[in-house]
Amino acid sequence: MRWLKFGMALVIFGAMGWLGSGMAEERWRIKNAPPLTPLAEDGIRDPSNPAITKLQQPAEALGNFPVDRRGEVDWVKTLRQGLISPRKSLDGDEYGGKEVMQEMDLDIMLKNTAQMPWVRFPHRAHTEWLACGNCHSGIFIPQRGANPISMEKILKGQFCGRCHDKVSFSLFVCERCHSVPHEGSGPAWW
Ligand code: HEC
Ligand code: HEC
Ligand code: HEC
Repeated sequence: MRWLKFGMALVIFGAMGWLGSGMAEERWRIKNAPPLTPLAEDGIRDPSNPAITKLQQPAEALGNFPVDRRGEVDWVKTLRQGLISPRKSLDGDEYGGKEVMQEMDLDIMLKNTAQMPWVRFPHRAHTEWLACGNCHSGIFIPQRGANPISMEKILKGQFCGRCHDKVSFSLFVCERCHSVPHEGSGPAWW
């Protein structure tokens, strides 16, 4: 059963590769544009629009931020190093805001990972940017083990995949989630 699931994950990643090279090529290229690509070349903005020269370039805005293995900005490190300080509520009023963020330091170990290292889900790295209501209970029931999460569902955009690979770091940096080696997980192969 464990191997079956593992095989399934490989099939899914194979399919993603196929999508990347085939019909979804355009979308794929844009989505994976390197973070410091000049705005006029990112495939999203109109290079012939005169306003393009008014916008701050990524190399200027993000150039000094720490990056992960894929060269994408590591926002958790950026925050910890004090390079940015996000607002604690939508209207910027820490105490009177409508949905003021409340930080919580509680790690949850997700062990249904077959041969991959376990996933340590950190509440802290999330509640520094998100309110409890962003996840509970629309995406996750707030109870350990109550959510049938799997890699396949994440790849389909459910659970963690509601944000990761979209507004948060890519699913290709496996080790940022699968960070806790266990007996039988072996060395990194990804
Ligand atoms: C955003 C976090 C995240 C990233 C990035 C991530 N995973 Fe997962 N993965 C999970 C979670 C959560 C589970 C389910 C754990 C549970 O329910 O106990 C999981 C489960 C798995 C499983 C177990 C079988 C299954 O289908 O559920 C495999 C295999 C797996 N991941 C492989 C990978 C590989 C390979 C990568 C990188 C290419 C990767 N994962 C990247 C979060 C992640
Ligand atoms: C990014 C999404 C996310 C945010 C934001 C979030 N949580 Fe969670 N929470 C989770 C996940 C994932 C689990 C584990 C669910 C599982 O094991 O199936 C969890 C579990 C819990 C649990 C159960 C703990 C246990 O031991 O059973 C509680 C309580 C909880 N969260 C409270 C909160 C509170 C309070 C906040 C805001 C301060 C918050 N969460 C913010 C995703 C989130
Ligand atoms: C509501 C959006 C949202 C959901 C759902 C979500 N995350 Fe995240 N996650 C974020 C954001 C935002 C960050 C911090 C910014 C960044 O790193 O991109 C983050 C950071 C993390 C980090 C910290 C990485 C580090 O280097 O310290 C881990 C680990 C992580 N997420 C795993 C998960 C897992 C596993 C799940 C599902 C169980 C999940 N996340 C669900 C938005 C989300």
